[in-house]
Formats: sequence, structure tokens, C-alpha cells
Amino acid sequence: MPETFRVGLLGHGTVGSAFEALLGERADAIEPIVGARPEISGVLTRSRGAFEEILESSDLIVELMGGVEPARDYVLRAMRAGRHVVSANKQLLSQHGEELWATAREHGVQLRFEGAVAGVVPVIRVLQESLAGAHIERVHGIVNGTTNYILTEMAASGISYETALAQAQALGYAEADPTDDVTGRDAAAKMAILARLAFSTPVHLDQVRYEGIEQITADDMAYAHDLGLGLKLIGTAERVGTGLNVRVHPAFLYAEHPLASIHGPFNAVTVESDAITEITISGPGAGGPQTASAVLGDVISAMIPPATTPETTQQLAIIEDVESAFYIHLEVADRPGVLAQIAEILGMQGASVKSVLQQGLGVNARLIMVLHPLLESRFYAALRLIGQLDFMRSPPRAIRVIDEEFT
Ligand SMILES: NC(=O)c1ccc[n+]([C@@H]2O[C@H](COP(=O)([O-])OP(=O)(O)OC[C@H]3O[C@@H](n4cnc5c(N)ncnc54)[C@H](OP(=O)(O)O)[C@@H]3O)[C@@H](O)[C@H]2O)c1
Repeated sequence: MPETFRVGLLGHGTVGSAFEALLGERADAIEPIVGARPEISGVLTRSRGAFEEILESSDLIVELMGGVEPARDYVLRAMRAGRHVVSANKQLLSQHGEELWATAREHGVQLRFEGAVAGVVPVIRVLQESLAGAHIERVHGIVNGTTNYILTEMAASGISYETALAQAQALGYAEADPTDDVTGRDAAAKMAILARLAFSTPVHLDQVRYEGIEQITADDMAYAHDLGLGLKLIGTAERVGTGLNVRVHPAFLYAEHPLASIHGPFNAVTVESDAITEITISGPGAGGPQTASAVLGDVISAMIPPATTPETTQQLAIIEDVESAFYIHLEVADRPGVLAQIAEILGMQGASVKSVLQQGLGVNARLIMVLHPLLESRFYAALRLIGQLDFMRSPPRAIRVIDEEFT
């Protein structure tokens, strides 16, 4: 082992600069673990550094640029040149993971990516190593800190989505352009990666259905409170028959659910399997120093012997239609027969009602219903029909409810 090992750093933004600082601070502690002292051998940004030179002078490459290209090209070239790579890039891995992992196996190098999902929460290691032998049934996750912060603030203070988003931006929890976070796309990328590891099946970001939180209102939060529910943006990857369903959407949770108590910018992942019952791990989901800590852990692991992401061993079909319980919010004219017509449409689609709240609003009324689980395709068929009824005063709104005891 040489006296130093050289780390080439691609990207020097929020995480890259925090990583460089942390590596400097922790070098004394890392040296006895690895048997060599880490040093940064070169940094690439849009305005400084040259990739080929950095590659030549590095034993390992850390990719913290983000985006698909040129990150994909650099990561592939580094691995083909025999370098281990550490990345926190969920967009890249959720769209080109199979190509990248295959290249790592082919060239006998490691591609580590703990920082790509749930920041510093060590969920990748848990799935790849601790639970490598478990037959996993389901993974649930709160894997986007921005949206969890917004929903937490809406629930705590009764503020609107727009106000909570502005607050998140002011505190640095949300980007100036928060689209990927609030539409659920960021969480979908992370769930694609978790599903790939948990079920050893190739899962591409395009196969993950996602909905965001832009439609959630302060009213939903108030009714949720009355019904004893909390609202979270939940990613799910689960076996359905002989296939696999991966999705992201807002969902109500009963207070006892292990994810119901995850507040603010924290992330958490719950893994369910017959043998282990259920484990939940949680912690800070993003942030420069936090993510840098996950990246540094990967660098140290890569410098001490091997771990590769094995080939997929399953080809589970991706299932689109699953059963869910729903909350629905209807603004209707307050006249006789309204509830009966709605109940008839729901009944035709096999939906059964668990609870109903009704509130008078002068000539109109608000109906809040919670339904027992039914196939989503049948639920949305009913919702479309309800939306066409002449007494509807605004489009119906629906949010899923998660609770195992509830069924
Ligand atoms: N921020 C977080 O909390 C967090 C958490 C988990 C994972 N991540 C992931 O970590 C990665 C980095 O995120 P970040 O927040 O640190 O991003 P960032 O602040 O935008 O920094 C990106 C860095 O990459 C460089 N870069 C971008 N495109 C480049 C190109 N084509 N050629 C050369 N350099 C290029 C930028 O150069 P310039 O300085 O010249 O612009 C900048 O230094 C992303 O994959 C992100 O998803 C971030």
C-alpha cells in the first residue's frame, strides 16, 4: 500500500466543497484505517481542471457534479481505467445504473453510492450488505427532505403549501427551482435505486410512477388531523403477486406507522420482510456536510477490500395497478340524494367507505371520505365519474392512506 491514496474530485459545489473540507479534517483518522493517507489530487468544475489529467493522477474518483452527462461519461471512463468511483448522483444511477454496475463488475472496481439515497442514512449498505440474504417484501421511504419539511410545517402551523415552500427556500432546504423535489421526481429516482437493490431487478426511473405535493392544501392537513392521520410523501417498492410495483405519492399514515414520526428535513426508510419483520433507519436526508460524510464513508470502504453491486438475479415484472386506501375530498351542492349518488358510483367500482365527515358550507357542503383499499384503476374510474356529476362544485381530490391495521 502506498503512503497516500489520491482522490480525484469531480464537482466542487455544496457537497464537493464539504467533502474536500471533511477529507482534510479526517485525514489523520482515515490513515490508520486504510493504511494510507488520503489527499485530493485534482478538482474538476466548469471553470477549472481537466478530466484526463485528474484521472491519471488519481487512485479513486469521487463524482459530485450531478446530472447525467458528462457525469456518466466520466464515471465510465474512470472505471474502465481501473479506478474505484464514489458518486451521490441519483439521476445518473436511476437511469444508467445497470450499465454502470456492469462496467464496475467487468473491470473489477467498486462503484459506491451511499450519498445518492437519503443522504447520510446508510440505507444502501443495509440493503446491499446487512439484508443481502433477506427476502424483502416491501420498502417504504421518506426520501426527500424538502417535501417532508414542507408537509411538516403545513401540519404544524396550518400554513399553505406556497408559504411552506417559500420558508423551505429561505432556510436552504429547497432549491430556487424546487421542481424535482415537489413533483416527486427526486424521490422516484431514489426509489428506483432502492428497488433495484432490494429486489435484484432492473428498475429504471421511467418505471416509477410519481406524484408530488403541489396539490396538497391546508384543508387536507386539518382534516387529516381530525381523522388522526399524518401526511407524508411516501416512496414504495413492493412485491405484487409475482411482480414489483414502485411508486411515489403523498399518503396519509396513521400515527403508529414508523414513518409518521419523521419530521422536518429528515429521511427514513422502512424495510419489511417476514424474517426480520421490519426495520426503520432515519437521519438527515441531505445537506453538504451530511452527504459528504456518506461519500467519505464510501471512499474509505472502497480503499479497503471489495464490494461490487452484483448482476440482477430477478426479472420481476413491473406492476402498474395496485390496491390502495384513499381519502377523498368533495365540494358538492348541499341537496338531497348527493351522498346516495356518490355511494352508488363508489359501490359500482367495489369501493367501500370506512368513514365520512360532512361539513355544511351554506348552499354547498364538503364531504371527506376514507375508503377501504381497492384497485387504483377502479378508484380512479369512480373518481372520474364523480367529477362529472352536476352537483360537484370543484374537481374531486384524492390522497392515498397507508395503514396495515386499517385493512
Ligand atoms: N446538495 C445536497 O444536499 C445533496 C444531497 C445528496 C446528494 N446530492 C447529489 O450530489 C451531487 C452534487 O450536488 P451539489 O448540491 O453539490 O451540486 P452543486 O452545488 O450544483 O455543485 C455541482 C458541481 O459540479 C460542477 N459541475 C457541474 N456540471 C459540470 C460539468 N459539466 N463539468 C464540470 N463540472 C461540472 C459544478 O461546477 P461549477 O462550480 O463550475 O458550477 C459544481 O462545482 C448531485 O448528484 C446531487 O444530486 C446532493
